[in-house]
Amino acid sequence: MRIFVLTGAGISAESGLGTFRDKAGTGIWARFDPMKLATPEGFARNPDEVHAFYNARRKNLLSAQPNAAHHALARLEAGLAEQGGHMTLVTQNIDDLHERAGSQAVVHMHGELLKARCAACEGVAEWRNDLGRADRCGTCGETGRLRPHVVWFGEMPFELDTISRALDDADLFVAIGTSGTVYPAAGFVAEARARGIRTCEINLEPSDGAYLFDDRRYGPASETVPAWVEDMLGGTERAVRE
Ligand code: OAD
Repeated sequence: MRIFVLTGAGISAESGLGTFRDKAGTGIWARFDPMKLATPEGFARNPDEVHAFYNARRKNLLSAQPNAAHHALARLEAGLAEQGGHMTLVTQNIDDLHERAGSQAVVHMHGELLKARCAACEGVAEWRNDLGRADRCGTCGETGRLRPHVVWFGEMPFELDTISRALDDADLFVAIGTSGTVYPAAGFVAEARARGIRTCEINLEPSDGAYLFDDRRYGPASETVPAWVEDMLGGTERAVRE
């Protein structure tokens, strides 16, 4: 069994990291303007404001812990590998909670909050403290050119070739905790369907694209994901025995 898992902000919600959009209108993008805080133009206009936004999120992340859903996906990766299968984990999240839960190979298509990138030399470095205009790039020595290593609106997500190959290779596509509104990730389910593989949505509630999924499981990720992983590993173990 080869499973492609796409995660979004919903998987980290119970770890205390906010989601971007929710039906109550209290998500991050209801309180903060993404055009000011998550675009190259916004950063060029007001770098201090953008740094302050990501510095606050970095602090929040450093005090957060992975939840049962992150841990369950790490078990699935290891369990499938033991059975000769494979899991590809692609996340839209910029947090490191999958890694901290034990996932070995995580594709961060929207970048990583705990890294900084230099606009002068493109060097990427671990960054756990506040980031600002006075900081110097450890690779090229330029000051004031570092930015959060995240993908902003209007920029190309990372590792799209790797993602496309993994989708080609999968038997099952599963979207967890994502509203399915931001492309290209929002289009993966249609690509999976076009390739003829089964699709499954695991979310707090049906997303607008719920009709695109063959199977659907709704509820908090800390409950639905461990239960689904049990079914997957139990199911594949049974299939191997039979
Ligand atoms: P969204 O905030 O758009 O969607 C989060 C989804 O998680 C919603 O469908 C919620 O119903 C669901 N959810 C909330 N709490 C949950 C829980 N406890 N368990 C399970 N599901 C839960 O987040 P994303 O789809 O990840 O991009 O957003 C995609 C991209 O939009 C982000 O990567 C970010 C943002 O703009 C960039 O910054 C480029």
